[in-house]
Amino acid sequence: MSNPTSDFFFDAYNRDEIAYGLTPSASLAAFLDQFSRDGLDGGARALDLGAGAGRDTLAMARAGFHVTSVDISERGLQRIAERAKEFGVGDRVSTKVSDVRQFQMPANHYDVVIGTTVLDHVPAEDAKAVWSSMVGSLGDRGVLFVEVHTTEDPGSPVAPGCDNDAPVSETADAVVNYFSPNQLASWAIEPESKLRILNYEERLEWDYTHGAEHMHGKAILLAVRSGYHPKWYGQPAAFPRQPPPHSHDNNSSRV
Ligand SMILES: C[S@@+](CC[C@H](N)C(=O)[O-])C[C@H]1O[C@@H](n2cnc3c(N)ncnc32)[C@H](O)[C@@H]1O
Repeated sequence: MSNPTSDFFFDAYNRDEIAYGLTPSASLAAFLDQFSRDGLDGGARALDLGAGAGRDTLAMARAGFHVTSVDISERGLQRIAERAKEFGVGDRVSTKVSDVRQFQMPANHYDVVIGTTVLDHVPAEDAKAVWSSMVGSLGDRGVLFVEVHTTEDPGSPVAPGCDNDAPVSETADAVVNYFSPNQLASWAIEPESKLRILNYEERLEWDYTHGAEHMHGKAILLAVRSGYHPKWYGQPAAFPRQPPPHSHDNNSSRV
């Protein structure tokens, strides 16, 4: 299959060893792990923007969501469809070739909206409009998961990333909008976003999911609609109740 010049990620998704692998980012996996313990409504809907070759889409579909995967890479979406079929979740995944800036996101519609490193692939002047559509498309119990590359990334044209000697990603040229410190968090706490932050982190991490080893600077956000206090988050899932003290002694005395 030949590489259309318009698809920057064609080679990465066309390889036998498909870029980004099958494991979602650790932060998304942690969310899915907690969320799935709470059971899932059979009709739960998720939107994966900039879905790539589908590591997040597939994890969501395998967790029971009906997922719409949007990307400008037709090859990436083909890989998603192939893998979804292979894993027996083809009926829960629909793919849509579209620029996220043009994709119409229905208001108040999705249970989960994901954007794993896509807001940084659109120019800064468009990213905020895409963000507004994303948060607007969340339902009352909606969950938002967003990752972006930050100016800490060694591929960043500005400090501190540009002063970092760590290796840069093979796909760094596709990142046109490195987020500044706190930028993603500040969007999330704007009143019009109507979100409550459950988890926010800015960090450096090594990436072994494609090409030669390289480092990334990331901001990672997990948020819910304000007013929503999901029982799957934190206590008791992350901090399970301990057995009462001396329960072992009590049990043994009953034997
Ligand atoms: C770094 S990859 C991440 C893929 C996937 N989210 C993951 O984490 O495995 C960025 C993806 O965003 C897509 N992308 C970039 N600009 C886009 C746009 N304007 N509209 C839709 N997708 C876009 C690329 O084709 C690519 O698949």
